[in-house]
Amino acid sequence: MPAKALFKPFHLGALELPTRVVMAPMTRSFSPGGVPNAKVIEYYRRRAAAGVGLIITEGTTVGHKASNGYPNVPHFYGDAALAGWKKVVDAVHAEGGKIVPQLWHVGSVRRIGTEPDASVPGYGPTEKLKDGQVVVHGMTQADIDEVIAAFAQAAKDAQGIGMDGVEIHGAHGYLVDQFFWEGSNQRTDGYGGSLANRSRFAIELIRAVRAAVGEGFPIIFRFSQWKQQDYTARLVQTPETLGEFLKPLSDAGVDIFHCSTRRFWEPEFEGSELNLAGWTRKLTGKPTITVGSVGLDGEFLQFMVNTDKVAQPASLEKLLERLNNDEFDLVAVGRALLVDPDWAQKVREGREQDILPFSREALMTLV
Ligand SMILES: Cc1cc2nc3c(=O)[nH]c(=O)nc-3n(C[C@H](O)[C@H](O)[C@H](O)COP(=O)(O)O)c2cc1C
Repeated sequence: MPAKALFKPFHLGALELPTRVVMAPMTRSFSPGGVPNAKVIEYYRRRAAAGVGLIITEGTTVGHKASNGYPNVPHFYGDAALAGWKKVVDAVHAEGGKIVPQLWHVGSVRRIGTEPDASVPGYGPTEKLKDGQVVVHGMTQADIDEVIAAFAQAAKDAQGIGMDGVEIHGAHGYLVDQFFWEGSNQRTDGYGGSLANRSRFAIELIRAVRAAVGEGFPIIFRFSQWKQQDYTARLVQTPETLGEFLKPLSDAGVDIFHCSTRRFWEPEFEGSELNLAGWTRKLTGKPTITVGSVGLDGEFLQFMVNTDKVAQPASLEKLLERLNNDEFDLVAVGRALLVDPDWAQKVREGREQDILPFSREALMTLV
């Protein structure tokens, strides 16, 4: 099946993507001091040059003391980091691509000892103690307001340096998702309890981002059922609950939902073939991005635990069938693009035999 559907332009208001291929956000930890450098610029530029329509950057931390969880993750605050990102934006635009930063706060996942201030513990919906010591600080109203303001500022800065929108990281068991999920949110105030209450933090955050950037600046919201604390977790069990969960987020100002799954071909609920992006599109009427093992024969978790596995290139036929049926609008590609900067061009030209396999080794370098 020709891959033409992947290379049709996509329009949403002022956002015009040359192709439907999206680079999935992938933490690379190659930004010492939190500043994206020349290697990072070249890494993103190459993917745009080879036909990626939209780059979603690796998770980049908002300006709050507990937003970061890992070494060498780029910041999205401060003059030096923003100047670095501006160069990334200009390089991607010069190749005809579009780019948005993924705005990230890791929440309770942060450990004492992590940069930039080693004394700051994780911040989360609920306090956690270990041996009488606070390892996760339970967020007060003032903390919540501060973090929301940090996301809004980051979004405004993204707009200021010419980014084409923003993606809010609401997935994978990091801060926003920690509020969503019963397992990590045991609050008894208006931010805890029912799913509607657990969504309040995200809703206020999206509204604040919208207010900061105005109408017409795209807001992508990434969410997932799975959590890095529990890969089998499910936030919602039925299409009805998914609809109830998504509606207030959509109303708050989300333009595109990025529905994070590990295998795009898996039906989300019994009785329908639709995947999470398919259901989300149907329930909200908003465009969606699908993701999960596109172009590879093994899903990404295997590679985090099993060092000698290699994922081989796989057929795109099932993906194209779903895309042609308008199940979703855009297709995010993770590891296949991490290892092979020319992945999109090879697919477009039918050069599947030249596509590189993925192994953990690819994580060691930024090319
Ligand atoms: C090395 C690596 C880093 C990742 N970092 C992020 C991240 O910063 N933010 C995020 O939302 N997802 C992150 N992910 C998940 C990817 O965006 C994507 O959803 C996942 O890899 C599945 O897509 P794939 O099967 O095409 O690789 C990461 C994945 C990998 C392999």
